[in-house]
Amino acid sequence: MSSNHRLLVKNAKQVVLICSNGEKYLSKHGLQNLCVVENGSVVIGSDGLIKAVGPAETIRAQYAGATFDKVIDATGMCVLPGLVDAHTHPVWAGDRVHEFAMKLAGATYMDVHRAGGGIHFTVEHTRAAAASDLLSSLSGRLVRMQRAGTTLVECKSGYGLELQTELKMLDVIEAARRALPINISLTYCGAHAVPKGKTVAEATQDILQVQLPRLKQRMSAGTLSVDNIDVFCEQGVFDLGSTRSILQAGRDMGLNINFHGDELHPMNSAQLGAELGALAISHLEEVTDEGIAAMAKAKTAAVLLPTTAYILRLPQPRARDMLEAGVIVALGSDFNPNAYCCSMPIVMHLACVNMRMSMPEALAAATINAAYALGRSHTHGSLEVNKHGDLLILNTTRWEHLIYQLGGHQELIRYVVIKGNVV
Ligand code: NIG
Ligand code: FE
Repeated sequence: MSSNHRLLVKNAKQVVLICSNGEKYLSKHGLQNLCVVENGSVVIGSDGLIKAVGPAETIRAQYAGATFDKVIDATGMCVLPGLVDAHTHPVWAGDRVHEFAMKLAGATYMDVHRAGGGIHFTVEHTRAAAASDLLSSLSGRLVRMQRAGTTLVECKSGYGLELQTELKMLDVIEAARRALPINISLTYCGAHAVPKGKTVAEATQDILQVQLPRLKQRMSAGTLSVDNIDVFCEQGVFDLGSTRSILQAGRDMGLNINFHGDELHPMNSAQLGAELGALAISHLEEVTDEGIAAMAKAKTAAVLLPTTAYILRLPQPRARDMLEAGVIVALGSDFNPNAYCCSMPIVMHLACVNMRMSMPEALAAATINAAYALGRSHTHGSLEVNKHGDLLILNTTRWEHLIYQLGGHQELIRYVVIKGNVV
């Protein structure tokens, strides 16, 4: 073996593989075993893909004559797959710290929304913002996520609610995708709220007849590459019928269905998503038993967002019931002006303490299962040959410290590697 490889990470105390055994996710049965190799190494090729991962001895013998652009001696350290954040709203302008104060004083999310704040406040500021300013704040936020270990992140539009600003947001995300190493899954969320002065029916018509056709044009011209379609299916926002028509239209354009459902009220969003073959549904604080069963059957992932339940003091999503029922459970930061959190390690910590997930369950939810929720688990989310060489190297001998330590991860995460490059 003498060809030139991009990176060798050798002699790590632990390498957490997250074996998916050919499956594209881990549910119930696979979850307790994340396949931890003691004293292991990883080789990433010049194409940025994993060439070998396993016991250090075996890899040393196998790659005896090989050369590497970079070698990291990870003695006393741990290697894990890069984290995947399955739900964020990272493009916006305007500061909503005052709303945090209102909520601390007792206002609910919907009190603020109905008073013209919340999403509406952010829409006003985002419409007025220059694309270059949005790009620079987005880049800062993505770099912050990357430092906290995120190597693949879902990014939504949804603070425009009309064609021009929705496209501006999507273009800004597309520009960040080209400029930064972090992997991005791009979601059109034009149905994030009903714009002021419009009815649900008018907003739905605008999406179906104006926004989606334009998106389709841009996608066929190759100037925009959208992956997913999202709707906020909620009382006082988009009802089940309008959600259905928007998601169906997106699916007909080849987008993955990945939407907000059953957050503040039981809406039967889970059943709708399962019926439409949704890849994922986020939130689900108010999901019913029937909804859980439908999602397990349809293999629709549940993207749980512990920061939202925490900040809004909502009931915790029923992670244990979902796991027991065989639902594919994933995690996201829900980064947005309401839940200002760029850190998946903190999200995993909250999922363990507040939602009673085990540490292996939380790590699988923030890697392979989050990748599944984005339709990327064939290429991301575990350390397996031919997948992307995206990994973290922790300054600790036990991987669980990534979840156990609450904050201060800049010290703990020694390297973040994307496609074999230290970023
Ligand atoms: O996922 N629930 C709807 N959307 C976001 C919040 C967006 C905002 O408040 O700006 C969420 O929590
Ligand atoms: Fe959200």
